[in-house]
Amino acid sequence: MSGIRPAQEQFGRVAEAYVDSPNHAQGADLDRVVELAIAHGGERVVDVGTGVAHTLRRVAPAFRAAVGIDATREMLEAGRGVLERARVPGASLVQADATALPIASGSIDVVTSRLASHHFADAAGAFREIARILRPGGLFVLVDNFTPEGAEVDAFINDLERLRDASHVRSHTVRGWRHLAEAAGLRTSIDSETSVTKLDVDSWLARSQTPKDRADAVRHRLRDASPAVVRAFDVTATSFSVHKLILLGRK
Ligand SMILES: C[S@@+](CC[C@H](N)C(=O)[O-])C[C@H]1O[C@@H](n2cnc3c(N)ncnc32)[C@H](O)[C@@H]1O
Repeated sequence: MSGIRPAQEQFGRVAEAYVDSPNHAQGADLDRVVELAIAHGGERVVDVGTGVAHTLRRVAPAFRAAVGIDATREMLEAGRGVLERARVPGASLVQADATALPIASGSIDVVTSRLASHHFADAAGAFREIARILRPGGLFVLVDNFTPEGAEVDAFINDLERLRDASHVRSHTVRGWRHLAEAAGLRTSIDSETSVTKLDVDSWLARSQTPKDRADAVRHRLRDASPAVVRAFDVTATSFSVHKLILLGRK
């Protein structure tokens, strides 16, 4: 369990902040995942790294069975309230590691995972599990942040994210995310890679309850960012933007 402990510690402290977080509770990417999942259809959907169930509450009504899986008990507890308020009583929430999904092989029509994989200690193992539970012809919809190609911008954004939240593991490049899904045995295509999420630095740091010394270090790094980094992430005095992809993986 040690691999998931940093995520459990981080998200266990801040679960409530995700209930109303605008970047999680809404967004064009959320609308698109829901659209893709419903268009594919089927009977069973699983949302991996479901957090407080924002994606699950939107996809569940279109399926006969819906399960949200997450490593952190406090996120799932907050998620129960989110599902109740959204009047989605049929969906279930299960605490488990993404690398050991308590789901039968070949039994799931659609797996979604949104803004969670960059926290997975073993994303390759998680994607193998996702491929295992999908039925032949099943669809994996991944939404996550990615880093533009280039060692400098890659190191900058991943170091910044880790300073802010020690449970950040890795935002891969588009090629990197794609490679992980292909290595798990999925045929991949990119639905979109042009969307950006503008982050207000103060509320981004408040949501993660980053200790002051680390928050100060984050602000310094943004202030001292090189021209290449400023361009890549549209860094301003109060904000920066991360890139988001929607990747499809077919079994
Ligand atoms: C930002 S939240 C997810 C947001 C959510 N999917 C949404 O659409 O609003 C990231 C979640 O990943 C979970 N997580 C991190 N590592 C995990 C792992 N190895 N297995 C399962 N869940 C994990 C965390 O507990 C956290 O709840």
